[in-house]
Amino acid sequence: MATVTPVLRDINLYRYKGFCFVKELMSTEFIDSLQEFHLRDDDIFMITYPKSGTIWTQQILSLICSDGHRDGTESIETSVRVPWLEFPTLYNELGHSSRPSPRLFASHLSYQFVPQGLKNKKAKVIYIMRNPKDIMKSLYHFEAMAVYAEKSPDFDHFYEKFLDGDVFAGRWFDHILGWYTHKNDYNILFIKYEDMIKDLRSVVKQICAFLKMELNDEAIDTVVKRASFKEMKKDPLANKENVPEDFFNLKKGSFMRKGTVGDWKNIMTVAQSEHFDKLFHEEVGDLALNFTWDATD
Ligand code: A3P
Repeated sequence: MATVTPVLRDINLYRYKGFCFVKELMSTEFIDSLQEFHLRDDDIFMITYPKSGTIWTQQILSLICSDGHRDGTESIETSVRVPWLEFPTLYNELGHSSRPSPRLFASHLSYQFVPQGLKNKKAKVIYIMRNPKDIMKSLYHFEAMAVYAEKSPDFDHFYEKFLDGDVFAGRWFDHILGWYTHKNDYNILFIKYEDMIKDLRSVVKQICAFLKMELNDEAIDTVVKRASFKEMKKDPLANKENVPEDFFNLKKGSFMRKGTVGDWKNIMTVAQSEHFDKLFHEEVGDLALNFTWDATD
């Protein structure tokens, strides 16, 4: 039987089967029950490690699937448009079984926790990856506003904590390598945050092709415009301004923070960056996993 262990650097988390869960939000029984979650063939899942562009992709997917929000879904909370698989009590007032198809799901879970039915390769999975140095910078700032998270006294502390996986969702390496090395088990498309930054239109078209959604040029333009950082920055729903203060303290930070590639250079030391590069090569080895580390790459 898998054991539950405390996370010493963050007492609000517990580790279970290699993943870190928030104590208050998710029980092991509930997490295990997701294995049997009843899927529909046309379900669409988007999976991210935190701070990899989750809200951005929720926005893009809901725009694609409701054709540029022609049905007024822009006024609906992001987590209702693309509800979480693993946070059933938060904002998902509709209940999954009563939702119309195609159902969109967001999840931060590692491959070992998602519904077994995904392995029949009918429902689709989109995995968004982001370079882990920028994830670190983003997550370090996010920690300040996430009420559940223990605050790191400085980035050095956070860096060690992140590498040890003492953060919600556990070790980044485990998450990405788990999904990537099991990619043949799923009907999965890997998307890079940096490619979305570089050419969002192409990525939107790539997602449409994967989902077999035919959008005309005008609809694609609408998706790209409404998913731009500029538009989302002024959208109260994308910034979760309606979410209770018990979850996020928006006086301490912003969901739409910078939205750039390479911001890690403003916080990591050269020694940390070199140390991380070495670790990256050891962990990723020969796998064809390439990241864009800088806007000029
Ligand atoms: P930064 O903190 O580096 O700015 P998540 O939604 O998974 O928590 O990811 C948050 C990150 O995605 C933040 O990164 C945020 O600014 C970025 N992001 C959200 N919407 C974006 C957009 N439309 N364009 C670019 N980046 C976006």
